[in-house]
Amino acid sequence: MDTVLPNTKGLKGIITVPADKSLSHRAVMLLSMAKGKSLIKNFSSADDPKSTLNLFAELGVDYKYIDEKTLEINSKNGLRYSNAPLECGNSGTTMRLVSGILCAQNFNSTLTGDKSLSARPMRRIIEPLELMGAEISSENGHAPLYIRGRNLHSVSYLSKLASAQVKSAVLLAGIQTDGETIFEEPYKSRNHTELMLKYLGADIKTAETKTIVKKSQLVPKDIEIVGDISSAAFFIAAALIVPNSDIVIQNVGLNPTRTGILDVVKQMGGNVEILDMREVSGELVCDLRVKYSPDIKGVEIKGEIIPRLIDEIPIIAVLASQAVGKTVVHDAQDLRNKESDRIAVLCSELKKIGVDVKEFPDGFEIIGKNKIVGGCELDSHKDHRLAMSFYVAGLVAQNEIAIKDFDCVNISLPEFLPLMAKLC
Ligand code: S3P
Repeated sequence: MDTVLPNTKGLKGIITVPADKSLSHRAVMLLSMAKGKSLIKNFSSADDPKSTLNLFAELGVDYKYIDEKTLEINSKNGLRYSNAPLECGNSGTTMRLVSGILCAQNFNSTLTGDKSLSARPMRRIIEPLELMGAEISSENGHAPLYIRGRNLHSVSYLSKLASAQVKSAVLLAGIQTDGETIFEEPYKSRNHTELMLKYLGADIKTAETKTIVKKSQLVPKDIEIVGDISSAAFFIAAALIVPNSDIVIQNVGLNPTRTGILDVVKQMGGNVEILDMREVSGELVCDLRVKYSPDIKGVEIKGEIIPRLIDEIPIIAVLASQAVGKTVVHDAQDLRNKESDRIAVLCSELKKIGVDVKEFPDGFEIIGKNKIVGGCELDSHKDHRLAMSFYVAGLVAQNEIAIKDFDCVNISLPEFLPLMAKLC
């Protein structure tokens, strides 16, 4: 448990946001498939990417830390059978993407996860991978997953979900099959897998919501990981709602498939300035200056933008509680399948501190300008993004707020409290 006190002075100063989690996972996975040595610079220190790293070590990939944040990956011998089950911890990205890699190997594998991950749906990846000839058995669509490795064939798959995890599982299987694998999704989800595959020499074409890959041998190449906009979102929101704030967040990834939060903040009238846009290892990055914005307004969020801000919806709810008027979120039903049922927990916990929120099956509505009362304990349900969102709400509360199981922030951002301390 941790407690957060109201902040009366404002957030000030400059921070550098830690490495992107989605990119850190993918760098380990793709470089493990690219026979040879390469460096990952600015690798994440969070628990989820470490689950991916440990898993590939079990599969025979050598790694060593050159310094605190630089990792050397040596995959010259390829992947090999692991006697022990492969533990994915809390990480859905690990389990779903690795399934796509392992179902095309010439050995069998078992993937396990913690209690939360074992409750999350896996049919979304099992179904397309089975269409490619994969053999995966599960516990009624849940982990553990038992994968019998074998030769796959290509597929043309029209996905009902706009999910980067489903897309990536199919593409990572697809680059191991003869023929052309086509993945089409209803809206464009994050495209880090596509960009990194291209960066490492894969035969890949993308057009709007369609991606086409052919058999490819990836080439080892150093990758520098940019900062995580999903982590930056908590500091952006805090600076927007705490009076007198004025901060700079350096090295924020600016991939357009992830910047829905910036579009929403702009529409709300928040004061966020993009500085020094540049490209690093195929990804856009910038610094952000964020100032207190007393007049932010409620917005409507639905449709195409949802996959571009899916992980930021909890912190957007906190912003909405301080905005003038109504914020409505729809089409976000998949939030119920994340590390917790994020719609249910968000609504029940925000209500406890005085937020005027109504729950819908696929989202919620918040009528803003709420006085956050505080003086109580909120349950994070061990969900890192909820814990950090509740912390930001606590900065504008009238009384101290306690957050249960706050150490779950280590899943994505172990640096959260030190960075907050630096700004507060
Ligand atoms: C992720 C994709 C998203 C996101 C998750 C990370 C990824 O999930 O919520 O935190 O790295 O591919 P979906 O694509 O399944 O929505």
